Amino acid sequence: MPPSRSGEAAWWRQAVVYQIYPRSFADADGDGIGDIRGIRSRLPYLRALGIDAVWLSPFYPSALADGGYDVDDYRDVDPRLGTLDDVDALIADLHAAGIRIVIDIVPNHTSDRHAWFREAVGAAPGSAARDRYHFRDGNGAEGAQAPTDWVSAFGGPAWERTDDGQWYLHSFAVEQPDLNWSNPEVRGDFVRTLRFWADRGVDGFRIDVAHMLTKDLTEPLPDRSTLDTLPQDGRHPLIDRDDVHDVYAQWRAVFDEYDPPRTAVAEAWVAQHRIPRYASGEGLGQAFNFDLLEADFDAAQFRRIVTENLELARTSGSSTTWVLSNHDVVRHPTRYGLPHPDRGSDRRPVLKHGTEWLLSGGTQPPLDRDRGARRARAATLFLLGLPGSAYLYQGEELGLHEVAEIDDAHRQDPTFFRSPGVDVGRDGCRVPLPWTAAGSSFGFGADGAHLPQPEWFAAVAVDVEEADPDSSLQLYRNALAARRALQTEESLAWIETGRDDVLSFRRPNGWRVTTNFGVEPVAFDASDVVIASGEVVAGRLPGETTAWTRGG
Ligand code: GLC
Ligand code: MG
Repeated sequence: MPPSRSGEAAWWRQAVVYQIYPRSFADADGDGIGDIRGIRSRLPYLRALGIDAVWLSPFYPSALADGGYDVDDYRDVDPRLGTLDDVDALIADLHAAGIRIVIDIVPNHTSDRHAWFREAVGAAPGSAARDRYHFRDGNGAEGAQAPTDWVSAFGGPAWERTDDGQWYLHSFAVEQPDLNWSNPEVRGDFVRTLRFWADRGVDGFRIDVAHMLTKDLTEPLPDRSTLDTLPQDGRHPLIDRDDVHDVYAQWRAVFDEYDPPRTAVAEAWVAQHRIPRYASGEGLGQAFNFDLLEADFDAAQFRRIVTENLELARTSGSSTTWVLSNHDVVRHPTRYGLPHPDRGSDRRPVLKHGTEWLLSGGTQPPLDRDRGARRARAATLFLLGLPGSAYLYQGEELGLHEVAEIDDAHRQDPTFFRSPGVDVGRDGCRVPLPWTAAGSSFGFGADGAHLPQPEWFAAVAVDVEEADPDSSLQLYRNALAARRALQTEESLAWIETGRDDVLSFRRPNGWRVTTNFGVEPVAFDASDVVIASGEVVAGRLPGETTAWTRGG
């Protein structure tokens, strides 16, 4: 049984949630692809880390056109990853260890292999089967031109033509046709999916691109340049529409049928002031705050972001969330080690072809790996000292850098193929984890890894870091254990340090969190240190270091 005393209904508010990208976590059957039994085999590791919940990225049947975010069947398991029984066993194992489980729901699109899409392609234009998606006639002679010139999030056109000449909308890859959320059958089916998993004991849901489900495709459709200038004020045809919240109000009623109520967190790339509606208790209940993930390692930016987001959380009644890395962005030690991370036009930190040489040994200006790692430790300890919940991404506890040295032949991410080749894509943060310094695929599995692992993984493998008291892994374990004492009232008070590059705040239990964002050491009362990301000696807090102290 899940740990479900009703008093624990708010377990999520300050939880540490650890994201597992199942295909790259641990491979029990030795086919090169991580699987559910692999995750179960690493339960002692998850327990020792001290997390409150696991978030599993999609494990559903999928052709992997987009790393599993192209779902063939929302109520089944990819046979390469295991069976429904395996997932039931995983849920039971995690619950027995006092760890909750959150799973990924991908409602904006199915895959093109989903039964509904196959049916739609075989059905006539105007049929009920096509109405579950967005099918349209094309323009020009014989409709040979796409209905609009819109582009997909991964680059290239957002419409694809079917054999009978109609076009369908895909906001992401061609293999990810967008669902029509005006269709009641679509709404009903997702409620069924939520219940299916909630009944099996899943504690919460991460909602993929939560801001894009509902659309207004009333003709005439605007062209791309018009679309781009339309304000995202709730009435935009495609993004962050007010009517998406009708969907989440219906879901909330479903979540609240359970004890404790099931939780949800929105992945919504919307303007900050639009976040609280996703996070409100009438809706999903929580939303990702990606502001730190988008920021530089900079005291002024960090302080502004913390203040703003605590205020937003007050507005929504939710707790705020903190994220530095996930499966979509360049790992944060690497971002912090580059002189000027190339964000392109995307809000997510991305790598462009031509800039990844910065990582793989280019000379001018090089990636400073140590500096990136030091800053990452400091930023993480700052984040873990904050009120709210923390979302960690597998491998960050090892201090992993982005893997830049993947040759084009091994790349999997559709961004790489559709940009084409301009964005190297997200494979570099999805390389299977190193568990041991020696052995096949660094202990990931018996027979290689589906993405190539670099040699330097040997130095950051779990068994190496477990034996090193100063490792990143030990820092995470110690910080998560110490953090329990901070999970009281969700507030902080800033302490003025008189320096632009040093932030300090006090938590209600009296502990103080101080980060030196600068390079030079600063004077510091080091008498009662709980934990620090670097060595605090002789009353000095080193540059690019965070310390938690009991008083001072
Ligand atoms: C989300 C996922 C990302 C995926 C996209 C389309 O942003 O995090 O990995 O590619 O949605 O489903
Ligand atoms: Mg496997």
